Amino acid sequence: MSEHDGTPDAAGRRPSLPARLFFFAFDLLAGRRTTLHKLCLLELLAAVPYRAWENRAYLRLSRRAGDPGARRRSQELIAWARAAQDNEYGHLLALQALIGEEKERRPWYGAGWVVRPAFASYRLLSWALARACLGCALRFNAEFEEHAERTYARFAADHPEWEGRPLPAELERERGAVGWAGLFRAIARDERDHRDHSLQFAGQARDKAPGKDRP
Ligand SMILES: [Fe+2]
Ligand SMILES: [Fe+2]
Repeated sequence: MSEHDGTPDAAGRRPSLPARLFFFAFDLLAGRRTTLHKLCLLELLAAVPYRAWENRAYLRLSRRAGDPGARRRSQELIAWARAAQDNEYGHLLALQALIGEEKERRPWYGAGWVVRPAFASYRLLSWALARACLGCALRFNAEFEEHAERTYARFAADHPEWEGRPLPAELERERGAVGWAGLFRAIARDERDHRDHSLQFAGQARDKAPGKDRP
């Protein structure tokens, strides 16, 4: 049994058209080959929707403070969104550590003039989607996370040379993973967890009556 049981490609669903367009555009920008810098860009974007949902949920908390159900749902969303953001940030730090070890050169798409507009566009999209349809935003994120899960699982499999390569002590203590490939499998499991929670919250958003979802 591998450390990454449960992530076979065959288990995945076909992504929706918007998700496929997004992945296509991302590959167009950063290339089809997965590199550490490409994963960094992925992680920079990954935290963005969680921030949008957290802001939206805080707004909702203050506007509907008298509604215990809305309050509970918002608090749950905030707690999860915060934890997920921290987790994505941890992924980014790990990637930066390996980039430092590998001395992988920054590609053109890692420059600020590319990253900043990409980040701003995704932020705007996430904000608009969170306002217009939280369930849609969560389902789109589930597809993003599923894509990330597969990307990390494949990345670990593509780099057997990293199997036994030790992690920096702090990372090993934090993650309990053995070697860099093991860490990437652990990150893939985090992404799966993000996908599952996105779908779970999307279900809650759908279960509510129309109109009740708005702050
Ligand atoms: Fe991540
Ligand atoms: Fe994620």
